[in-house]
Amino acid sequence: CLKVMLKAQNSSAVVQRKGNWSWNGLGVRNYKVTVVGAGGGIGQPLSMLLKQNPLIDELTLHDVGDIKGVAADLSHICTSTQVDFFDGVKQQELIDSLHDSHVVVVPAGLPRQPGMTRDQLEDANSGVAMAVSCAVGMACPEALLAFITNPINTIVPIAAEFLKAKGVFDPNRLFGVTSLDVVRAKTFIADYMNIDPATVEIPVIGGHAGKTILPIFSQCSPKFTGEDEDVKRLTERIQEAGTEVLNAKAGKGSATLSMAYAAAYFVNALLRGLNDEPGVIECAYVASDATELAFLATPLELGPNGIKKNLGLPSLNADEEAALQKLLPELRQNIERGISYAAKII
Ligand code: LMR
Repeated sequence: CLKVMLKAQNSSAVVQRKGNWSWNGLGVRNYKVTVVGAGGGIGQPLSMLLKQNPLIDELTLHDVGDIKGVAADLSHICTSTQVDFFDGVKQQELIDSLHDSHVVVVPAGLPRQPGMTRDQLEDANSGVAMAVSCAVGMACPEALLAFITNPINTIVPIAAEFLKAKGVFDPNRLFGVTSLDVVRAKTFIADYMNIDPATVEIPVIGGHAGKTILPIFSQCSPKFTGEDEDVKRLTERIQEAGTEVLNAKAGKGSATLSMAYAAAYFVNALLRGLNDEPGVIECAYVASDATELAFLATPLELGPNGIKKNLGLPSLNADEEAALQKLLPELRQNIERGISYAAKII
C-alpha cells in the first residue's frame, strides 16, 4: 500500500488552533476527514477548501487514480492540517485510508454528460456506494458518511443496505449532500431580492434530482417578496441548475466548484455538530420517517453523533404540499432501485 505522509511546511504537533471560518469559542477538536475521489473535478477543490478548515487535523485523500501530486500540492498550503494520501484500485487502499476518520466525504464517481439524467449514472456509480460503505463498515463504522456521488437519491439507499449488511447502519450517520440546492436557492433568491446571499435562509427538501428538489419559499427568511410566478420560475431554475452548469460546460463535466463549496460547507457543519456546537442546522438527504418514504432531505439539527434531531417537514403552503406529493412517487422509485441493486449483491 502506497502511503506517504506529507506535512504542511509549518505544521506542528497537535495544537489548539483557531480559524475564522468555523471557530466557535467551544473546545476545538482535531478531526480526521477522508475525501474519497479526491483527485476528481469536485475532489480537488473540495480538498483545497477542507485544507483550510481549522477543525480538521488530518485530511486524507483517496482516489483510484494517482493523487500523489495533488497531495503534494495541497500539503504546501500553509495551514496546520496534515495531508496524506492513498491511491489505487484495491479495496485495501480504501480501507487503509479510512481508519480513524471522523467524517468521510465521497465525491467519487462519474459525472453526467449533456443530455443525461442523474439516474443514468446509476449503473456507473452504484459500485462506489457499495465499495465505500463496505470499507467504512470495516474501517470506521462510527464515522459520519456523506455522499456527493450521483444519483444521490439512489446512492444513499444503496449505502444504507450495505451498512445494514455489515451490521453497522446508523441512520444518524449517513447523509446525501444536498447543500448545493440550498446554496443555489440562496444565490438566486438573493439576486432576485437584491440582497446579500449570506442573509438568506431557505429549507430545500425532497431529493437531489429535477422535480425531487423542492425549495420551500414560504419558509424563506427574509420573506420572499416575489409573486407566485417568480416562485415557480426560481423553483424550476433551482431544480435544473445542475443541468444549467452541465450545458454551459458543454461536454466538460458538471458542477464541480459550486459543489465543492457546498460540500465543504456541509462537512464543516458536520464537524461543528461533532464539536457539540449548538444550533447547527442543515438540510441533507437521510433515512427519514417524515413521509412514507424511507429517505428524504429535510432540515436536520447536527450534533456529536451526526443527526441530533431530524426537524422533519417544514410548514408547507398548499402549492408546496402538492409539489411534495407529486415528487414522492419518483423518489420512491429511486429508493427502490437502490434497495433492489443492493439485494442482488448482498
Ligand atoms: C449538480 O446538482 O450540479 C450535481 O448533482 C451534478 C449534476 O449532474 O447536475
